[in-house]
Amino acid sequence: MQNTGVPKPAILMSRAVFPEVIARLQQYFDVTANQQDEIWTKAQFISHLQGKRGVFTTGGERVDAGVLAACPDLKICANMAVGYNNFDLPAMTAAGVQATNAPDVLTETTADFGFALLMATARRVTESEHYLRAGHWTQWRYDMFTGSDIHGSTLGIIGMGRIGQGIAKRGAHGFGMKVVYHNRSRLSTELEAQCKATYVSKQELLKTADHVMLVVPYSPESHHTIGAAELARMKPSATLVNIARGGIVDDAALAQALRDKKIAAAGLDVFEGEPSVHPDLLTVPNVVLTPHIASATVPTRLAMANLAADNLIAVLTGKPPLTPLNTP
Ligand code: GLV
Repeated sequence: MQNTGVPKPAILMSRAVFPEVIARLQQYFDVTANQQDEIWTKAQFISHLQGKRGVFTTGGERVDAGVLAACPDLKICANMAVGYNNFDLPAMTAAGVQATNAPDVLTETTADFGFALLMATARRVTESEHYLRAGHWTQWRYDMFTGSDIHGSTLGIIGMGRIGQGIAKRGAHGFGMKVVYHNRSRLSTELEAQCKATYVSKQELLKTADHVMLVVPYSPESHHTIGAAELARMKPSATLVNIARGGIVDDAALAQALRDKKIAAAGLDVFEGEPSVHPDLLTVPNVVLTPHIASATVPTRLAMANLAADNLIAVLTGKPPLTPLNTP
């Protein structure tokens, strides 16, 4: 961008991000970056945001009516995440603020991770590693860490958006799994054929699946999609994997079900109230826990950050956003 003598619009990077993305944005904007990655209170977030035209968020920063009222210069919030439950979209639309997310670029990486977590959970990878590291492995035994099979089993996917479809394809085509799914709306016949997936009710899915995978976006309606009643419907040999959002699963009920062996095991990448983890989940052995890393490969995280940057550049230079969430 040429130096025209006109001051560049001010933007805020609310968390640390790749330096090359900041350098790109500095060509267009006066950038306030938080490369120390301080975790701000809401009041601190507001005070850094005041006077800014745009903000780069990473999914944890809540943008609601209070923030918007205190920051009247704001024009765009660009989330470096596909999920956007940190945004109050109606309030943003009413305040004339564009919201964008970062879909698509993370689909395959996240679907890969769903499978990694499923396999680690079903085959007890981390539990057996802890056993080995603790020096307990003194001899082989026929029933040591026997888990459940992935190939030929039934995979139940709740939430059949782009990531759910990626997981279905991996399961059906790569591992010969029978795939059933439940979603707010049914896929087209063509997409169902590509995913080799059959639509079933949630009850049917919970009853028949050997492995249940959650990929549904968080909303008040999807809060506790899996609680004690749903866990009681699953097979005692079943596993549950959550790569969606904290709050989709009732973590306390899940810890109890794992302890009581109501289901065999779980794999969780997201948690209610994260980065805090329900203390009971830390003490049950049959759960694999990862710190919200499903999209964490360098190329994918860079693509997500660049997409958020592209949205900021587009909107603040008068062009349409690439991946809008609202029409303010
Ligand atoms: C990660 O959880 C995302 O929403 O991108």
